[in-house]
Amino acid sequence: MDTIILGIESSCDDTSAAVLKNGVLLSSVIASQAVHEAYGGVVPELASRAHQQNIVPVVHEALKRAGVAKEALSGVAFTRGPGLMGSLLVGVSFAKGFARGLGLPMMDVNHLQGHVLAHFIKESEGDAHQPHFPFLCLLVSGGNSQIIRVNTYNDLEVLGQTIDDAAGEAIDKCSKVMGLGYPGGPIIDRLARQGNPLAYTFSKPHIPGYDYSFSGLKTSFLYSLRDWLKEDPDFIEHHKEDLAASLEKTVVDILMDKLRKVVKATGIREVAVAGGVSANNGLRAAFHEHAARYGWRIYIPKFGYTTDNAAMIAMAGHFKYLDKDFCPIDLPAYSRVSLK
Ligand code: KG4
Repeated sequence: MDTIILGIESSCDDTSAAVLKNGVLLSSVIASQAVHEAYGGVVPELASRAHQQNIVPVVHEALKRAGVAKEALSGVAFTRGPGLMGSLLVGVSFAKGFARGLGLPMMDVNHLQGHVLAHFIKESEGDAHQPHFPFLCLLVSGGNSQIIRVNTYNDLEVLGQTIDDAAGEAIDKCSKVMGLGYPGGPIIDRLARQGNPLAYTFSKPHIPGYDYSFSGLKTSFLYSLRDWLKEDPDFIEHHKEDLAASLEKTVVDILMDKLRKVVKATGIREVAVAGGVSANNGLRAAFHEHAARYGWRIYIPKFGYTTDNAAMIAMAGHFKYLDKDFCPIDLPAYSRVSLK
């Protein structure tokens, strides 16, 4: 009997639906919300309203592209949290109504777990490049920077995490200080490709253990820039590529230094990366360098699975479905939660 899962994701500013059949992706639809660009960040109320407009057409389109009738679904997986409450509520409420109307079981998914399990999405039957348990996953997004030991699909251990800002958040804030657009991550990435990563140095944190900190880097970037601008009011315009490359290098070095420590301590050399910042070319290159130098077996998601998407939610839901780990209809959404 086939297992066909509809996944629904609405935790932030992307409304997404995807259909998986026996772990193979049949369709994935993402409606992004351009409305936030003018504000330099996601406006929760506008995100929620846009989700309400998008959710029905997005789910309809995902089923249509998959060629799956809703009656043929095995179950419905949805992001329960963490995320923006107003955004989550749209996806959670829709999923509950949709599943209940069809008499289907529901699986609630932790968004962070979804990012990690994105590595198991198959794009075809023969797609076999998947991590083996246990593996380490560097989860880096706008809201998280964590090193996770993944023992099995549903046993994830956080070994280290940021004590203040996330990596993506730090990049976005530095980009904002430079007067670049939103979100800053992809812009910094593009500029960094043309700049010298050794042009400037910014402070790196000295945090014991496997935890991260990015707030010091942000302050160091801001203060350095302020001094340089006193000497040359057009400093940013003249040096934006070098600034981006140096900032990116500092963030990547901080991320990789701790990850190397964890690999050494655990002896686990299966290493994955996930989350929005895993789209970054500098970070991807660092993973390849580590694979060549230290014999890591690396798992880097395709660009489509780096940022928020429902395919990863359907994937996590697929495993829960196989475990018969269903959720009740009265389960609330949660805005803040860790993996454990
Ligand atoms: O995982 P994600 O889509 O959303 C959550 O935070 O849950 O991650 C978004 C973050 C933003 O900070 C964005 O600037 C960053 O990922 N990002 C990048 C790149 N693409 C997205 N950061 C660096 N380089 C990129 N190419």
